[in-house]
Order: sequence, then C-alpha cells, then structure tokens
Amino acid sequence: MLVLGIETSCDETAAAVVRDGREILSNVVATQFHVHERYGGVVPELACRFHIERLLPTVSEALRTAGVGLREVDGIAVTQGPGLIGALLVGVSFAKAVAHACRIPLVGVHHLEAHLSALLLEDRGLPYPFVALLVSGGHTHLFFAEGLGRYRLLGQTRDDAVGEAFDKVAKILDLGYPGGPIIDRLAREGDPTTISFPRAFLEPESLDFSFSGLKTAVLYYVSGQRSAVSGQLFDIAASFQAAVVEVLVEKLARAVRVTGVREVVVAGGVAANTSLRKGLAGTAEREGWRLHIPSLALCTDNGAMVAALGHAYFRGGYAAPEDLTPQAMLPLGWMS
Ligand code: KG4
Ligand code: ZN
Repeated sequence: MLVLGIETSCDETAAAVVRDGREILSNVVATQFHVHERYGGVVPELACRFHIERLLPTVSEALRTAGVGLREVDGIAVTQGPGLIGALLVGVSFAKAVAHACRIPLVGVHHLEAHLSALLLEDRGLPYPFVALLVSGGHTHLFFAEGLGRYRLLGQTRDDAVGEAFDKVAKILDLGYPGGPIIDRLAREGDPTTISFPRAFLEPESLDFSFSGLKTAVLYYVSGQRSAVSGQLFDIAASFQAAVVEVLVEKLARAVRVTGVREVVVAGGVAANTSLRKGLAGTAEREGWRLHIPSLALCTDNGAMVAALGHAYFRGGYAAPEDLTPQAMLPLGWMS
C-alpha cells in the first residue's frame, strides 16, 4: 500500500511516499528556518504563507522522487493537529481536495503519535505498552501508550515546551534559529558543570515539567555579566543543556517506576539532542529499560512519519469523515 504523508503543523512543509508503512520511497522537507530565523521563533502568519507557497512543489517532488503518480497512491495521511491552526489548515485543505478529486482514501493523524510512528519506518514496530516521552518545539509530554490511538497522559509542561526553551535560550544568546541544534553543537565544546542552572523537579512525585525558570535563569546570568558572554557560550550552552537533560531523564525514570513498564520510547525534535540520547542510553542500561528512539533524521518533523501512522490507521479500517477539520489543540488518544 502506498501512502502519501503530508505535514504542515508548524514550520516544515513536508511530504513523503511510504510503502506498506515501512519503506520510505521519498521524504521531502522544505524547511522554513530562514523565514523565522531573524525573529528567533516561528511567526505563524509567515509559516502559513510558506506552506501555501511550498506545499504543491513539495508533494510533487515527493511523488517524482518516489517514481509514482498520484493515481497510484492508495491513501493520503495528513497531520490534523495539534499545531498552528493556519498552518494545519493549509495541509488539511490540500489533502482533502486531492483526496476528493482523485478519490483516494484520507486519514487525519495526530502529530505526536506521528513522531512515535517514526519507529515504524525503521522496522521496529511500536512496543506496546510503553512509556513515551515526547519532546518538541510545542510539546513536552509523558504518556502511557496502550495501543494505536490509546494513550494516557502522565505529565506535561506547565509552561514552556523543552524545544521552545532551547529556542528561547538561543535567542537570548543571539545564536540563531532553531536553537536546539545550535546549542547541541556548542555544548559539545563546553563544560556542563561551569554554571549551576536550576532544575525544576517540582513536587516529589510530579511527572510535570517546567522550563521557564531555567530560561529566565539563563537570561539573568547573561545580563548579570559585566562583559560580553561570547567567551562563555560553550559553557553556558553545556550547562543549560545539562539542566534540561537531567530533568527529562529523571521525570522519565519516575514515569517508568510509576507504570512499571520498561519499554520506553522517546520522540520529537528534541530527541535528536546528543546529550539527551547519551543520558537516556546510560540510564536505560543501568535501569534495564528497552529504549527506542528514532534515528536522527526522523526525529524532526517529516512526512514519512505521518504516512507510516496513516498506514496503520488505514489497516485498522479508519478513514477521515467528510468534515475532517484541523485542530490546534488535539489531545492524544482522541480516536479511542
Ligand atoms: O518535532 P519538531 O521538529 O517540531 C515540532 O513539532 O515542534 O521539533 C522542533 C524542536 C525545535 O524547538 C528545535 O530547536 C528542537 O526541536 N531540536 C533540538 C535539536 N534538534 C531539534 N533540540 C535540542 N537538540 C537538538 N539536536
Ligand atoms: Zn513535531
């Protein structure tokens, strides 16, 4: 079965063709970082305009690279939410129009479940039941996953998402956008013990997160320096990142203890972080978890993960209703 996956929830216009939910025939991502770079974060209005401009060429390229025509596509999967409403509208309207005109079955998928589904593309399956840590520019969530579309929320951020914290700290340090990969690179050259930034563990058993205090601590540290911080960038990046990683790993460990489930999946853009991957691997080995993280290239937003999840829904007999609409806030597990 050939599925065309379309992703426009935030700042990547992406399309992919995937065979049988596993084999990537094409995976095209038109990134917008140059559009948002000067603002230090995603500007929703600009994101929508870029999606409108780039979606058709991106889908055409995905089909061309895959060597298939639209008429050979057996199903279209599109991100229904959560995300920026204007950005989602572009992808959903496009997918509905193509599906209707060419009589191709359509399914709307959840962006976070699509991030988890990146694992399907590496022939690994999803190890239900599992604990999921989803870390992206808009989300920091812990879930207990029971099956396709069946999730229980264990904890979430009370303020900034972790990717957002990376991006805002990069803005404070004037490093560019998106901040995550830049901080990740700088941190490799720095000493993470130089500055003791706060770790928000919250209440003893809480599985929630909070990153705004950490972001503010970096801001205070930088504005408290008498001279420019350029000489300390490596150490600031490493110290900030160490604080983030420690909290994420500890909260995940708490979730594993609470649920008693040792299958652990970590996904979303921030799962590409080198130090987080290292920290998770070490803890997994010590604690006996089976840790599953998509490969680097599939951690950030892409169409292949959407197609892979769409395939799973098509196989389960799901199809989008005629009135499918995008949802800026869409709880995970809305299909169950
Ligand atoms: O999942 P994603 O591509 O888009 C959303 O759904 O938000 O995640 C994007 C986020 C951005 O905040 C970006 O800075 C962060 O993921 N990110 C990283 C790394 N690569 C991307 N954060 C830390 N380290 C990285 N290597
Ligand atoms: Zn994402």
